[in-house]
Amino acid sequence: MVTYRSLQSTDMDRIMEIEARAFVDPWSPQAFRLTSSYASWVCLLDELLIGYCICLIVEDEASIANIAIEPEHQNQGYGTGLLDYSLVELKMMGARKIYLDVRRSNLAAQALYAKFGFKPLGLRKNYYDSPPEDALVMYWKEDETI
Ligand SMILES: CC(C)(COP(=O)(O)OP(=O)(O)OC[C@H]1O[C@@H](n2cnc3c(N)ncnc32)[C@H](O)[C@@H]1OP(=O)(O)O)[C@@H](O)C(=O)NCCC(=O)NCCS
Repeated sequence: MVTYRSLQSTDMDRIMEIEARAFVDPWSPQAFRLTSSYASWVCLLDELLIGYCICLIVEDEASIANIAIEPEHQNQGYGTGLLDYSLVELKMMGARKIYLDVRRSNLAAQALYAKFGFKPLGLRKNYYDSPPEDALVMYWKEDETI
């Protein structure tokens, strides 16, 4: 059974474990500490944490800072479920515009965001290191249809 809840500080060891395996350039513990006051949710499969979504919301504008599903559980719909849950929560908190950055080569993530009506906005040249790559900025706005 899949459930969702807010991220708790006791989740961090498990999240760091997933982060290290889900990304070529994982966030450091310091990066997670800097986002500890963000609005964040986790996805549990039979009580095992398999994914997380970390978002910043300021007034009516939100950004998705990090989202990942544990590699062996990817491509089975869990990312869709977690993003759906997180977007509903963000909208209930007042988000009317939502932005995110994604590696240009990360077509799986871009396809996930597109399913929820996110559109490409532009490129941030050389935004990422290790390996260097442009970021595609994507956005969603409440009053714009797909
Ligand atoms: C991006 C990520 C969170 C998606 O989670 P997921 O559970 O694998 O996604 P889902 O199974 O719900 O699939 C969602 C959509 O993504 C797309 N997708 C998923 N895996 C894909 C793949 N390997 N190739 C192309 N598209 C893919 C599909 O469009 C899919 O929708 P559909 O099944 O209705 O066609 C997950 O792949 C992940 O953790 N990746 C590593 C970390 C990462 O890149 N995070 C995003 C940073 S911006």
